[in-house]
This record gives sequence, C-alpha cells and structure tokens, in this order.
Amino acid sequence: MMEVTTMIKYLLCFASLWAIVAADTPANCTYQDIVGQWTFQIGESGHDRSLNCTNFGSQQNPPKSKLRVTLYFPDLVVDEFGNNGWWTLIYNQGFEVVINGRKFFAFSMYKKHGKDYDSICDQTLPGWSHDIFGRNWACYTGTKGTPLTTLKYQRNSVVTEHKFTSLKYQSNTTLVGEINRSQKSWKAAKYAQFEGMQIEDMIRMAGGRKSRIPSIPKPVAVRSEHARMASDLPKSFDWRNVEGLNYVSPIRNQGSCGSCYAFASLAMNEARWRVMTNNTVQPVFSPQDVVECSQYSQGCEGGFPYLISGKYAEDFGLVLEECNPYKGSDGSCSTLQSCPRVYSTRYEYVGGFYGACNEALMRINLVNNGPMAVAFEVYDDFFSYKSGIYHHTGLKDKFNPFEITNHAVLLVGYGTDSSNPENPQDYWIVKNSWGESWGEGGYFRIRRGNDECSIESIAVQSFPIM
Ligand SMILES: *[C@@H]1O[C@H](CO)[C@@H](O)[C@H](O)[C@H]1NC(C)=O
Ligand SMILES: *[C@@H]1O[C@H](CO)[C@@H](O)[C@H](O)[C@H]1NC(C)=O
Ligand SMILES: *[C@@H]1O[C@H](CO)[C@@H](O)[C@H](O)[C@H]1NC(C)=O
Ligand SMILES: *[C@@H]1O[C@H](CO)[C@@H](O)[C@H](O)[C@H]1NC(C)=O
Ligand SMILES: *[C@@H]1O[C@H](CO)[C@@H](O)[C@H](O)[C@H]1NC(C)=O
Repeated sequence: MMEVTTMIKYLLCFASLWAIVAADTPANCTYQDIVGQWTFQIGESGHDRSLNCTNFGSQQNPPKSKLRVTLYFPDLVVDEFGNNGWWTLIYNQGFEVVINGRKFFAFSMYKKHGKDYDSICDQTLPGWSHDIFGRNWACYTGTKGTPLTTLKYQRNSVVTEHKFTSLKYQSNTTLVGEINRSQKSWKAAKYAQFEGMQIEDMIRMAGGRKSRIPSIPKPVAVRSEHARMASDLPKSFDWRNVEGLNYVSPIRNQGSCGSCYAFASLAMNEARWRVMTNNTVQPVFSPQDVVECSQYSQGCEGGFPYLISGKYAEDFGLVLEECNPYKGSDGSCSTLQSCPRVYSTRYEYVGGFYGACNEALMRINLVNNGPMAVAFEVYDDFFSYKSGIYHHTGLKDKFNPFEITNHAVLLVGYGTDSSNPENPQDYWIVKNSWGESWGEGGYFRIRRGNDECSIESIAVQSFPIM
C-alpha cells in the first residue's frame, strides 16, 4: 500500500516543463476563477477516441487552430462570432464547454511546488475535444485572459500535500456508545471488517483525501413549478421496491481502492438499464475498466461521477463486469478488447449545471428517471453507522485520524419516518459500496431537506442509450 500512498503515479511534462502529478487532481478552482475570456488552442482534428493528448503542445503535437470563448456565470458561453453554447464547472476540477456542435473538456492546471500543489485555474491541462456525436477528436488547452500572458500564471489556491499515516484503525466502544446516547435518530456499531485496517485505506474508501471540495455549492432555491411537481410525487419511493419489483443491482464492495465514484456511476447506469427495460436487462458493469482505463479519473486515487457516469460512459462506453473483473487496485488497461461497450448520454448535474441542484429536483428526477449518483461529506462518525437516519453528530473519533472526504454513492429512494409523530424525519435511501454487512444491508438513510453533509448539492444523472 505504501507505494500507492505516495500518490505519485507518474510524472509528465507540459509546455514549460512543469511537473504534473496525476492523482485525484489537486486542482481547486471555483466559478469565480473560471468565468471570463478563454482561448482554446486546438490540435489537429479528425482523430478517433484513441487520441492521446498527454503531450499535446509539444513540438510533435502542436496546436493548429484557436477558438475564443467567453464563459459567463453560471452556464452561458459565447464564442468570438456571437454563437451561444453552454458550459459547466466540474466540481473544483475543471470545466466542460459545449458550443458549435463540439464538446471541450479539460482538467484545470496544477503544479507541484515544494510540498504543495498550486492550482493554476487560468490554464488547463491538455484536454479532449470532439463533436457532439463523439467523432472527430482533437486535443486542446485553454488559457484564460489575453493569449500573450500564457506564461504568467496565478496561484489561485494551494493544496498542501498530506502526511500519510500508517496507523491502523481500532474501533472504540466509547465513541459508538457516545453516538448511541447523544441522539435517537441513528445507531452506531463496531465493524469487524474495519478492525486493523489501514486508516489510509479507509479514507480512500470514503473518496480519498483529495476528494474534498472546499466550496461545495449550496442547493438553489426551489422554483414554484418544481415545488408543484414535487408535491405531486409519492410521499415515499424506493427503487428497490416499486410495486414489488427491485430495479437496483446488488450491493458491491469497493475494498480499499478509492473507486467509489466508479461504483456509484456504474450503479446508476445499471439501475437505469433496469428501469428503461422493465427489468428485462440487468447488467453489472466493470468498475475495474474505469479504474484502469479512464483518463477522466484517477484510478484508485479518486474521480468524480459527472466524468464517469456521464462523460466516460458517453465517450468510451461501459463494459460488463466479466470483461475486466474487479481487483480493487490500479493497473494498466486490461479490459478484454472483444467486449462490446454500451453507452450513455445526456449526462448532467441535476438542475443543469454545477450548483443548480436541490431536494425537489432530486426527487423529481429520481422518480421519473431512476436512481442517480450523489456525493456527500464523510465525517468520522459515518464509518460506525449501523441503522436509522444518519446525520452528522459532530463527535470526533479521537483515536483514528480521519479526514473529511467527499464520497460518491447512489440515491435510490426517499421517505419520512413518523415513528415519533412529534418529530417526523424526512430521509433519503442511499446505496453504499462497502459490502452488505455495512449499514442497513449495504444501504444507509440520511436526513433529507437540509442538505445534510452536502448531499443535496451535486447530484448527477445520465441516460443509457438502449
Ligand atoms: C499517452 O502518452 C504518454 C506518453 O506520451 C504515455 O505515458 C501514456 O501512457 C499514454 N496514455 C495512454 C492512455 O495511452
Ligand atoms: C480551495 O479554494 C477555496 C476557494 O478559493 C479556498 O477557500 C480553499 O481554502 C482552497 N482549498 C485548498 C485545500 O487549497
Ligand atoms: C476509547 O475512547 C476513550 C475516550 O474517548 C478513551 O479513554 C479510551 O482510551 C479509548 N480506548 C482505546 C482502546 O483507544
Ligand atoms: C449502540 O446501539 C446499537 C443498536 O442498538 C447496539 O447494537 C450497540 O451495541 C450499541 N453500542 C454501544 C457501545 O452502545
Ligand atoms: C413489466 O414487468 C412486469 C413484471 O414482470 C409485468 O407484470 C409488466 O406487465 C411489465 N410491463 C410492461 C409495460 O411490459
């Protein structure tokens, strides 16, 4: 495990020989950093998706054309000729632009600087562009501001490299007891499977150290037409039991690989295949394919559902589990090339762009379209969740040095617990990827309606192409 925990998978060079580290990207860019005028330097087009953009910008692979666009908050983009398109920020990691029939996606630039990483939000790493049908690929890089300032960059923010701990987890009955006593909503338990596990592995299981987004958007106000639509929905709903039928694929266990984003993304696609085919097609997709083969994520070091359930599934497609069975570790792409790939499309942040989400929109899309990928902040007490409706108690696990992470999971339902009529509690039903023995048979419930642990901020959905 220790060589992985160095988090340095490989070094590569770009333009002025900045060293770039590939891990769950340390970029930390906000809307404020990204909004403005950009110049995209675009390479030769006409390629297929096997195009490797890693060394784009070097002499062997120079830019051929330019596109100037202006990004307005929150989702309008206008090019130099006045054509309109749309864009979205992708967490704090980069942004995607769709204009003139082409899509552009790149991670924001970052650079190692001693022990820290500088986010360089006014530049991008080499990214991928193709037409909206997934043809005609080209590499590109983006530079914000006037093109002549290319080599001046802003250190917008600094992410400090973390010290890794070699400590092993030891559950403490006192914490479990304190959680049990301090509130009535949920129960904690000790888990034999966590006992003696490396703390680093548990942090990775919950999304990884760098998954935390320091400026998660708050849910937007509910528009009146959405409030009306939401009030027509059933009071409770569960895709595991819709008139006796289960549309959710079985619980899985991601192990100590930081691949929750892949499990959540594939679980959504699996469930939506079931929903769209009245349960006659029940695929189980391969997260190992995503871990090993996706350039839109960082293997066992993390990634994000928008880029996998949506963008990877649209650009590269998904394969069934047997095409690359789960190993839970990084490796080179070993997916059987003879396996057919299936695709998804219309991927989006619920609400249309990053930061446009809220509880009503989540319920409307959940009931009408199927389960969706959500993310939430994991605090110390969450690991001990056993049953009930989770909310963060604020109790610290003093013996296990956890860190707040952002964990991707699958939203499958909602309801209201009225067992205490004086204090009915609304909740979400969520599928985790920590095995069946964790929580309520692998699921948990969490408070609904108050953006508990930011779970109502960044839901993502996509639609299988049948
Ligand atoms: C792309 O090329 C770089 C070196 O030019 C190589 O290290 C990397 O593995 C390639 N990536 C893929 C996905 O083939
Ligand atoms: C990321 O950026 C936000 C907003 O600029 C800032 O508040 C936060 O401290 C930064 N986080 C890190 C880890 O650099
Ligand atoms: C468990 O926690 C309590 C108080 O928080 C502490 O006194 C005790 O030493 C801990 N036990 C172990 C085995 O770490
Ligand atoms: C906490 O509550 C759960 C459920 O009632 C129980 O199984 C567990 O033993 C309790 N643990 C402690 C330390 O109180
Ligand atoms: C969907 O499947 C159920 C159970 O197999 C069946 O009763 C129902 O008629 C099917 N619906 C349609 C529209 O085929």
